[in-house]
Amino acid sequence: MAIRRIVTQGDERLGKRCRPVTDFNKRLHQLLDDMKDTLEEAQGAGLAAPQVGVLRRAVVIADGDGGMLELVNPEILEQSGEQTGPEGCLSVPGRWGMVTRPSFVRIRAQDRYGNWFEMEGEELMARCFCHETEHLDGRLYVEHIDRFLTEEEVEEYYETEEVRKEGR
Ligand code: NI
Repeated sequence: MAIRRIVTQGDERLGKRCRPVTDFNKRLHQLLDDMKDTLEEAQGAGLAAPQVGVLRRAVVIADGDGGMLELVNPEILEQSGEQTGPEGCLSVPGRWGMVTRPSFVRIRAQDRYGNWFEMEGEELMARCFCHETEHLDGRLYVEHIDRFLTEEEVEEYYETEEVRKEGR
């Protein structure tokens, strides 16, 4: 296991469409393990292979419970609803923008051994599914925004969000 370097906006690899994973071998397992270490170290929500310079369709996502999901060749099957909130990306460090995404997303993906499974996500997980699969098509969330948020705006959003959740 190792921490890999995260490439940032401007690196041409972030703009490339990634190829499907076809070999579910040790090399893939090493990549996924390294991506999990790298995501943990960076304390991000998700990381796609092109962000560590590998143009293959593989993603890891923090599950919010201290674990991580591995999605190989993920595809969005269904999406519905709408949510708008601040979104960031480890390849666009220290910046945030308001992005509208579906509030419910169903995907299918393969695990590290090639077995297909389906999964549903809401709220943050739905957002991650969209953000990470876009990375695999060479896209960054910044294409959805008019401008970056200021630090104050991000803080203000989360304070309001806290109040809303406590009030439930
Ligand atoms: Ni990202």
